[in-house]
Amino acid sequence: MSENQSEVKKGLVGVVVDTTAVSKVMQEINALTYRGYAVQDLAARCRFEQVAHLLLKGALPTPAELSAFTAEERGQRALSPSLARMLDAIPTQAHPMDMVRSAVSHMGMEDEETADPSPEANLRKAMRLYARMPAVIARLMRNRRGQAAVAPRDDLGYAENFFHMVFEAVPEPEVVKAFDASMTLYAEHSFNASTFTARVITSTNSDIYSALTGAVGALKGNLHGGANEAVMHLLQEIGHADRAEAWMERALVEGRKIMGFGHRVYKNGDSRVPTMREHFEAVALLKGRADLVEMENILAGVMLREKNIHPNLDFPAGPAYYLMGFDIDFFTPLFVMARVTGWSAHVFEQVADNRLIRPLSAYTGPDSRPVP
Ligand code: COA
Repeated sequence: MSENQSEVKKGLVGVVVDTTAVSKVMQEINALTYRGYAVQDLAARCRFEQVAHLLLKGALPTPAELSAFTAEERGQRALSPSLARMLDAIPTQAHPMDMVRSAVSHMGMEDEETADPSPEANLRKAMRLYARMPAVIARLMRNRRGQAAVAPRDDLGYAENFFHMVFEAVPEPEVVKAFDASMTLYAEHSFNASTFTARVITSTNSDIYSALTGAVGALKGNLHGGANEAVMHLLQEIGHADRAEAWMERALVEGRKIMGFGHRVYKNGDSRVPTMREHFEAVALLKGRADLVEMENILAGVMLREKNIHPNLDFPAGPAYYLMGFDIDFFTPLFVMARVTGWSAHVFEQVADNRLIRPLSAYTGPDSRPVP
């Protein structure tokens, strides 16, 4: 087919580019499953470690598999001296997503298995990324606050250890559970922009670190992962629940895009929102910030009334992370921590049945002409 005869599918809307067995988005019923399990059930009944096993190894772990998987993850949490030095040298005014992008790239340079595309080596590399990303993000956050890095503890679960490395303390169980559930909800979402980026890079026979470095770059934008950070700025701009209704009405009249609302695939509501909203409300109650919940409810009500657009996962996740004490511009790196599992699962699939991803374009420049 000639490039100039094909219909342009701007934004690849409605285009099915490949098959996947990792997750299924069912927009008609607002449902999302990871390898057949509803994401709400996984968030309620499993720890993130089990979900990571499901995504990386293809099945929920048996108790024996979970202890082996957990031991492997705990054994690889510490950063190499070279990565630690590199993180400490990053200019602190840089955006944390740029820092994380560079960290993933650096991990690719120091890993002796980077060029080995075998499934076994790719799984080992994915485990390193999953196990080390919390220490990378915790160290970057503490560096910027002028605090010394805190070493990981191998007697703590994934979520508890992350809090320990950031705050030198493990918070209330409700807060740990809210964070752990957010990791599960953020872990995977079929062919979203960053996952597709990872698959495009993998399709050239490039390596998993290159694929995930590109994916972090794609996730940074506020139409994708950057929205959880943008939601918090918006709530701060509004300031008080009393001002929420008028603010939203004016913003919509001005034609503003409101961060945390809308979705390319879900048009009747994001299947992950009710679970995250419940956890956000529990954390807000604990922290005495029911006003934030009230503000969000008002904003969501006006948006639904005026435009029939529903909130997406970033809407409750942003303020939940804020109340947990994380710095706002680190919210999207928290998304990275979770999504490395989904990205890796897609890299495995792409390698297993690869065809170079190379779409067409319709040329609109000048007609052919001689060089003067
Ligand atoms: N605020 C206000 N209006 C919105 C909106 C939002 N967040 N999201 C969509 N709309 C409106 C658009 O203005 C458009 O209206 P129009 O037809 O009158 O022009 C219509 O809904 C369709 O939106 P469109 O941007 O074409 O949908 P899309 O599928 O290309 O984009 C998003 C999906 C997610 C990029 C978009 O909803 C958005 O920008 N949301 C805010 C960013 C965000 O939260 N991203 C995280 C996604 S998980």
